[in-house]
Amino acid sequence: MKGNTTFSFILLLLLLAVLTTAGAGLPFACDPRDSATHTLPFCTTGLRIEERVKDLIGRLTLQEKVKLLANNAAAVPRLGIKEYEWWSEALHGVSNVGPGTKFGGEFPGATSFPQVITTAASFNVSLWEKIGEVVSDEARAMYNGGMGGLTYWSPNVNIFRDPRWGRGQETPGEDPVVAAKYAASYVRGLQGTDAGGRLKVAACCKHYTAYDLDNWAGVDRFHFNAKVSQQDIKDTFDIPFRSCVMEGKVASVMCSYNQVNGVPTCADPKLLRGTVRGSWRLDGYIVSDCDSVGVFYDNQHYASTPEEAVADAIKAGLDLDCGPFLSVHTENAVQRGLLNEADINLALYNTITVQMRLGMFDGEPSAQPYGNLGPKDVCTPAHQELALEAARQGIVLLKNEGSVLPLSPRRHHPYAVIGPNSDVTVTMIGNYAGVACGYTTPLQGISAYSRTIHQPGCAEVACADDALFGGAIQAARRADATIMVMGLDQSIEAEFRDRAGLMLPGRQQELISKVSAASKGPTILVLMSGGPIDISFAKNDPRIAAILWVGYPGQAGGAAIADVLFGTHNPGGKLPMTWYPQEYLNNLPMTTMDMRADPSRNYPGRTYRFYKGPVVYPFGHGMSYTSFVHTIADAPKVVSVPVDGRHHSNTTVVSSKSIRVTHARCNRLSLVVSVDVRNTGSKDGSHTLLVFSTPPRGLGAPHKQLITFEKVKVAAGGQERVPIKIHVCKYLSVVDGAGVRRIPMGEHALHIGDIRHAISLEAQTLGVIKS
Ligand SMILES: *[C@@H]1O[C@H](CO)[C@@H](O)[C@H](O)[C@H]1NC(C)=O
Ligand SMILES: *[C@@H]1O[C@H](CO)[C@@H](O)[C@H](O)[C@H]1NC(C)=O
Repeated sequence: MKGNTTFSFILLLLLLAVLTTAGAGLPFACDPRDSATHTLPFCTTGLRIEERVKDLIGRLTLQEKVKLLANNAAAVPRLGIKEYEWWSEALHGVSNVGPGTKFGGEFPGATSFPQVITTAASFNVSLWEKIGEVVSDEARAMYNGGMGGLTYWSPNVNIFRDPRWGRGQETPGEDPVVAAKYAASYVRGLQGTDAGGRLKVAACCKHYTAYDLDNWAGVDRFHFNAKVSQQDIKDTFDIPFRSCVMEGKVASVMCSYNQVNGVPTCADPKLLRGTVRGSWRLDGYIVSDCDSVGVFYDNQHYASTPEEAVADAIKAGLDLDCGPFLSVHTENAVQRGLLNEADINLALYNTITVQMRLGMFDGEPSAQPYGNLGPKDVCTPAHQELALEAARQGIVLLKNEGSVLPLSPRRHHPYAVIGPNSDVTVTMIGNYAGVACGYTTPLQGISAYSRTIHQPGCAEVACADDALFGGAIQAARRADATIMVMGLDQSIEAEFRDRAGLMLPGRQQELISKVSAASKGPTILVLMSGGPIDISFAKNDPRIAAILWVGYPGQAGGAAIADVLFGTHNPGGKLPMTWYPQEYLNNLPMTTMDMRADPSRNYPGRTYRFYKGPVVYPFGHGMSYTSFVHTIADAPKVVSVPVDGRHHSNTTVVSSKSIRVTHARCNRLSLVVSVDVRNTGSKDGSHTLLVFSTPPRGLGAPHKQLITFEKVKVAAGGQERVPIKIHVCKYLSVVDGAGVRRIPMGEHALHIGDIRHAISLEAQTLGVIKS
C-alpha cells in the first residue's frame, strides 16, 4: 500500500515537472527567482541593450564563448543562462523543419499558409505582411509554451533564376522587385514594427547569395562555384537581400553553401562584412547554412586546416554556425593565433544583441509583450481564414476558353474529379512546412459545391503506368465537365532535387489528353507545382477549356480551388515566373549563372528581363472573370534629374548619356503616374497593375523591367484611380557592366497592360558646390 502511494506521488511530481518545463516557458535567463544573477547588469532591463550585452560578454570565459557559436548554444549555468536552439523555420507557417520547434501536446499543429511562390502570385504586399503577423503570433505562442524558438530562418529570397530549381517553390519568383517587396513585407510582419528595436521574432533572409542550384547533372550545392558578374550581382542577386536588410530591417542573414567567384560565401569578407554589414548596415547576426563551414572545409577544401576555416568564416563576418564546426574548432584557432578573442566577442555581440531585443534576458516571459499568447492563439478561425484567403488570392487563371469557368454547381449530374493531386493533403503545403491545423483537399472543396465522381487516374504524380486510366476515362464520359488536378509534388521538385526538364512527369500528359478526348463536357486542368510546367499541348487543345495554376495552395487549398472554379472568388493572381517551353533548356546549363543572353554562344538569357524567345505563359500572366481597361490619367513626359554641381562644369543641361546614381540628388526625386482602372465586366475583381519600364538601349540594361506594382479592387462597372509613385534613382536606373548604378538619360518607356507612356529624363546641374 505504502509503496504504491509513494509511487503515485513520484509520478505526480514527474508529471508536474513535465508540465512546468513544457508548458510554462521558464525564463531563458535572468530568472527573477535566481538571486545570484537577476540583479547583474546584463539582466537589468533599465540599462541600454549595448551595455547589457557588453557586460555579459565580459563575464564569459573563452570556453563558454565558443559553445555559444553553434545553433544549439550551450547553457552557462553559473550565469543562469539556459541552452538555446537557434534553428527554427517559418517559411509559410510555423514549421518543424528546424530542431527549435516541435508539435504536440497543446500545440498539435499551426496554420499552414500556401507555399511562398503561390502567395507571391497574389502581388499583394499587405497580404504578405499580414501572413507574417499571424505566423509570428503562432510562433510566440509556441515559444511561450516551450515548443518553439524565437529565431526563424525564413524567408528564402533567392531569385528563382532557373525553372528547374527544386527550391524555386520557396521563393517569391524570378523578379528582383517582387522578391524585394516580398522580403521587406514578410519580415516586417514576422518581426513586428516596434520602434524601440525590440523584436517579436527574429527573421532571416537566406541564402546569400547566387544560390539557386541544388543538385543538377552531377553538380551539387556543396561543390558549386557560381561564377557571377558584378552586373548580375548588383542588379539581380543583391536586390531582395538589400531590401530585406535596409527596408525590412531583418535581424539576420544566412550565407549559402556555394562559392561565388571562387570564395565560399560564408568565408567572403567582401560579401559579409563589406556588403551586408557595411553597405547595408545589418543590425543583426549572420548565420551559416547548416554545416556550410564544415562543407567549405571538407567538400570544397577551401582551407587547409579546420582552424583556418573557422578563422576565415569569423573574420569574414560570420557570427553563428548552424552546425558544430565553430564550437569544436574555434578555441584551437585562437590558441594558434589565427583569431583573437576580440573577433569572437564581435560575433557574440551580434547574436546576443538579437536575443536581448527578443526579450530573452528580461526575465519572466509571461510578463513581456506577447507573453499572453498561447494555444488559443494558434489555428484560430481567423488565422485559418487568412490561409484560405491567401490561397484564393494566389490562384492564377491561365486559360478560360469561351468563359467555361466559373462552373455552376450541380445537384444531380456529377462533375468528374480526376488526377493524382485531386485528393491530396500534405502535397498542398510544399516544403519547409509544419503540421497543418487541418486540410480541405480539392475533392472535398469541389464536393462542397457539387456532386462528384472521383478517379485518381494515376496512383501518384510520377504516373509510371496507365493502370488507372480506364476508370478515369469512364468517369469523364459520364460527367458534364471534368476537373483534372495534376502536376508535381516533392518527389519531383524539392530541396536537393532539381528537375530534369519542364514536362509533366511520367504519363500525366497522356492521361490528360485521353481523358479530355473522352470527356462528355469540357475539361478543366488544375496544376499544382512550384516551378513552371511546359503544358503547350493543353494550352493549344480546345477540349481543355480552362487551366488554373494553384502552386502549392496550403492547408485550405482545396476550398480555394473550388471557390475559384465555382466563381465565389474571382481570380486575380499573376504568374511570378516565366513558363518556358521545354526547348528553352536546350542550351542552358543550370550552372551558367549569367542573366543576360549571349547570342554568340546561343545562350538564351534568363527570366523575362533578358530572355526574348517564345514562352508558354509570360511572367505576369493571369486572367480574371471580368475585364479591366487602363488609361493614363496623368503622367509627366519630361523629368529633370538634378545633378550635384561638382560633377559637371556646365551650368545648363548636361548632355551626358547617363548619370551615376551617386551623383544625382535622389532625395524626393520621384514621379507620379496616375492610372485609371475600369472594370468593364459584370463581376467585382482585384486587379494587379504591373508597371514595367524599358530603359534607353545600352549599358546592358534589361529589355524590360518591373519597376512597381499596385493591387486594386474594382467593382463591376466601376473605376479606380491609382497613383503610382516611381522613385527615379531606384527604379529608372540600371547597372552597367562594371557594376555601377546609373540613370540613363533619354526616353524610358513605361508599359502598363497594353498602354505605353514615354518619359524623357534630362540632367540638370544645380550649380557648383565649392568645397
Ligand atoms: C557643356 O554643355 C555643352 C552643351 O551641352 C557641351 O557642348 C559642352 O561640352 C559641355 N561642357 C562640359 C565641360 O561638360
Ligand atoms: C490584399 O490582401 C488583404 C488581406 O487579405 C485584403 O484585405 C485586400 O483586399 C487585398 N487587396 C486586394 C486589392 O485584393
